[in-house]
Order: sequence, then C-alpha cells, then structure tokens
Amino acid sequence: MQALTLSGASDATATAPPKIASAHPVYDEKILKFFTIAALFWGIAGFLVGLVIALQMAFPDLNFAPYLTFGRLRPLHTSAVIFAFGGNVLFATSYHVVQRTCRARLFNDGLSWFTFWGYQAFILMAGLGYVFGVTQGKEYAEPEWYADLWLTVVWVGYLINFLGTLWKRKEPHIYVANWFYLAFIVTVALLHVVNNLTLPFQLGSVHSYSVWAGVQSALIQWWYGHNAVGFFLTAGFLGIMYYYVPKQANRPVYSYRLSIIHFWALIFIYIWAGPHHLLYTSLPDWAQTLGMTFSIILWMPSWGGMINGMMTLSGAWHKLRDDPVLQFMIIALSFYGMSTFEGPLMSIKTVNSLSHYTDWTIGHVHAGALGWVAFISFGAIYYLVPHLWKKAGMYSNKLISVHLWVATVGIVIYISSMWVAGIMQGLMWRAYNEMGFLTYSFVETVQAMHPYYIIRAVGGGLFLVGALIMVVNVWKTIAQPDAVTTGAALPEHA
Ligand code: HEM
Ligand code: HEM
Repeated sequence: MQALTLSGASDATATAPPKIASAHPVYDEKILKFFTIAALFWGIAGFLVGLVIALQMAFPDLNFAPYLTFGRLRPLHTSAVIFAFGGNVLFATSYHVVQRTCRARLFNDGLSWFTFWGYQAFILMAGLGYVFGVTQGKEYAEPEWYADLWLTVVWVGYLINFLGTLWKRKEPHIYVANWFYLAFIVTVALLHVVNNLTLPFQLGSVHSYSVWAGVQSALIQWWYGHNAVGFFLTAGFLGIMYYYVPKQANRPVYSYRLSIIHFWALIFIYIWAGPHHLLYTSLPDWAQTLGMTFSIILWMPSWGGMINGMMTLSGAWHKLRDDPVLQFMIIALSFYGMSTFEGPLMSIKTVNSLSHYTDWTIGHVHAGALGWVAFISFGAIYYLVPHLWKKAGMYSNKLISVHLWVATVGIVIYISSMWVAGIMQGLMWRAYNEMGFLTYSFVETVQAMHPYYIIRAVGGGLFLVGALIMVVNVWKTIAQPDAVTTGAALPEHA
C-alpha cells in the first residue's frame, strides 16, 4: 500500500502527507455507510420527483392528485436533491475525509449518530410539510420554523463533531478539503439562521411571518439562495474534489498553493454576488451592479479550482481512458467549468434581461446540479463503496461506464433543450411588431415550449435510469464476499 501525498506538488512544506499505514486509528466507517445509503435512497427519490414534475410540465393533466400537484412537488424535488441527496453525500464524504486526513476517529460517536438521524428527521419534516402545504414560500428555504429550529440544532452538532475531529487530529496540517467543508458548514449555518428569522402566527401555529419585509426580505432571501449554491452546492463539493480526485488518480493535487488562493478568493467573492438574482427589481441599482460585478469576478476563482482539479491528472492522463470513476469526476469538473462560465455571463444585466424568468435559468441550474453536483457525488460514491464495505472493487466497471454514458447523454438532452427553449421563450416575450404591439400572446409562448418539455423529460428519464444502474451496482458490490475472506487485494489506500 502506497501512502498518497495529498500536499501540493510544488510546495512540499505545505503538508506532510498523511501516512495512512502507520498507527491506524479505528475510523468510524459505519456512520459513513449509513450516510452513503441514505444519499442513494434520497437521490433516487429526488430524481424521480424531478421526472414527475418535468412530465407534469409537459402534460398538465398529470396534476390530478390534490397533494401531488406541481406546486407541492417542485419544492419536494429541489429539497430532495439538494438537501437530502447532496446533504447526505456531504455528510458521508466530510466525515470520511476529516477522519482520514486528520488520522483521527470522529470526535463523538453519539454526535455522529445524532447528526444522522436528526438530519433524516429534518428531511421528513420538511418533505411532509410541502405535501400538506406547510411552507414559508421562500425558495430553497421552504420549511417552516419548527423544522428550521430542529435543523439548527442538528447543524450545531455537525459543526461540533467536525471541529472536534480537527481538534484531536494527529496530522499537524489541516488538509485543504477540510477548509472547504468547514466553510460550507459555518456559512450554511449563518445563512440558515438569518434568512429564517420568523415569528409563528400564534402560539401552536405551524405557520409564521418573516421578520424581514419588502425589498430587504428579497435581498436576504437571495443572499441566502445564491450562497446556498455557493456553499452548499459548490464549496462542499469542492471539498470532495480536493480529496477524491487525487485519491482516484493517485496523484497529488496539482498545486496546493493554488488551492489556498482558490479557497480564500471563492469564499470572499461568493458572498457578494446574491443580488444578481434581483436584477431589474426594486433593489437599489448600485446593489444590482455590485452583484453583477462580483459575479463576473467569481469566474476567476471558479476556473482556478476547476483547472487545479483537472491538472491533478497531469502525468496520469492515460488513467482517464479506462477508469470510469475518474471519468465521472473529470466530466463533473467540465460541467463545473461550463456552469461557472455561464453564470457570470447570465449575471450581466443585458444578458439577464433575456434569460431571467426563462428556462435558460433551468438549463443553467441543471448543468451545475446534474453535471457538477451529481457527477462528482457519483464519483465519490463509487470510490467510497468498495472502501467502506472492504471489497476488491465495484461489482462491475462496465455498469459504471453504462451509468456514465446514459447519464451524460441525459444531461446533454436536458440542458440543451432548456437552452433552446429558454432563449426562444425570452425572444418571444420581447418581440413586438412595427405598431409596438407584442407579437406573441403568453399562451403562444407556452405552446412553443411543449416539445422542449417532452425532450427535457426524456433527458431526465435517462439520468434517472443511470442512477438506478448505480444502485444495482452498489447493491451487487455490497453482496459480494469480503476481499479479506477471498484473499483479494483491497482497493488502493483502503
Ligand atoms: C432526473 C433528474 C432531474 C429532473 C428530471 C429535474 C427536473 C426539474 C424540473 C422539471 C424542475 C422545475 C423547473 C421549472 O420550474 O420550470 C426542476 C427544478 C430544479 N431542480 Fe431539478 N431535476 C433533476 C435533477 C436535479 C438535481 C440532481 C438537482 C440538484 C442537485 C436539481 C436541482 C433543481 C433546482 C435547484 C431547481 C429549481 C430551479 C430554479 O428555480 O431556477 N435537479 N428540476
Ligand atoms: C460563477 C458561478 C456562478 C454564477 C456567477 C451564477 C450566476 C447565476 C445567475 C445570474 C443566475 C440567474 C438569476 C436569475 O436570473 O434569476 C443563476 C441562477 C441559478 N444558479 Fe447559478 N451561477 C453560478 C454557478 C452555479 C452553479 C455551479 C450552480 C449549481 C451547482 C448554480 C445554480 C444556480 C441555481 C440553482 C439558480 C436558480 C436560482 C433560482 O432562481 O431559483 N449556479 N446563477
């Protein structure tokens, strides 16, 4: 077993490589298994609901069941994929990475289990609330006050457990992936608390009033919403990139120095970019311009990180040819690069005047969500499963490849149909004739979208099929005899 250098190639002083072989502390791997299975479960549920709402948009007659109409299922989808699937992936990987890079068991077993069950309880509370119409109506922050309070308690437990593990580490250096995870945990706590400051209607009521009102409320909401993207869907998953890409490629991070610049630049700049969600609204103009400017600057650290991830393969590009797990990770980085180029572009006011309210935004969202977030998660899961269950490898590499291609084709179909639909929609809305009248009625624009909604559902369907293939592969892998019993070699660095 060869110890892997997780420090930078260029500055050897930055980290002493975690010497995994010696003085192995007994890591808590059971909790990682639970989070991994939960991520798979919620992932399938979230993708399925995504497909259902995609079909409901294509065929409105599917909105027949009172509690399962588009309006109730949409937040169910977004919360299931972001918080339930993404959240469980982040718990699993952060608890894995922090233990391995600190050479220490998680701070407290009780806290680990509390965060697991507490988080699943939050997901259920939130999801049931949406179906029964209990919602604050704030996008990505729909759960009502009681669920919010509970999540705050769970999240504080998570923070203590993570910090406690860093505290008792046996490795002097704190590896960069942990910085990204920590930024994610701390910032999400801050965003969650500030955006969810509410007062219940009356004693015993599940509904509440926000303490924020008017344009301040909108600004706080999109400060929250944008940084949920920046810290939940980006910083945490960059933590995954900084650990699992070097591990899978068996190469050190391309530049450790760049990773530090990447970290500070990203967290400093992200936090200011929220107003790009409120262009051409009653938000003061200077704040809109500020949001636009920071969004454009954000392109730089985003691409710095993407390049750092990709270049980690320098000298090992040949591995990309036949390692489908690495292919997942590198395709994820390509989508990350693409969506973080598109985002700054869409934040330019004149571009946003076309893209805003259209399905172009939905295309952008899913390029980031499916291409980046889900793909880097799949890569990490394929890495984790044989390690955690002590198997020689995944049951079938062929099935990983099939998953990769089915899902990639699905994403391309999804996002390209939404780009075409969105730009068409925007152009139709703003078209007027020589008399100054609008050329198209709203209903004509809706009609024009219909074929694209069907195409999008096909893309989403393929993505779901790919994920089901992964579940079968994981199931078969777990059912295999242990590598220890068969005498087969464990995967590298087990
Ligand atoms: C099978 C895969 C998926 C399908 C078919 C799907 C479908 C959809 C549909 C139809 C919408 C509503 C669009 C609208 O209101 O016009 C939506 C919204 C959304 N989805 Fe997905 N989705 C999938 C996977 C994902 C994943 C994996 C994520 C995140 C990790 C995600 C994040 C979101 C977000 C954030 C929105 C709200 C976008 C906005 O308000 O601008 N989706 N999705
Ligand atoms: C440099 C990075 C990025 C910038 C500057 C950026 C910028 C933008 C802009 C301008 C919008 C449209 C706002 C509107 O017209 O309403 C948007 C929407 C969105 N973006 Fe990005 N984006 C970036 C990266 C990403 C990534 C990587 C993801 C996903 C992982 C993502 C997820 C979203 C979501 C979910 C929305 C829809 C929000 C909503 O209206 O519900 N973005 N982004």
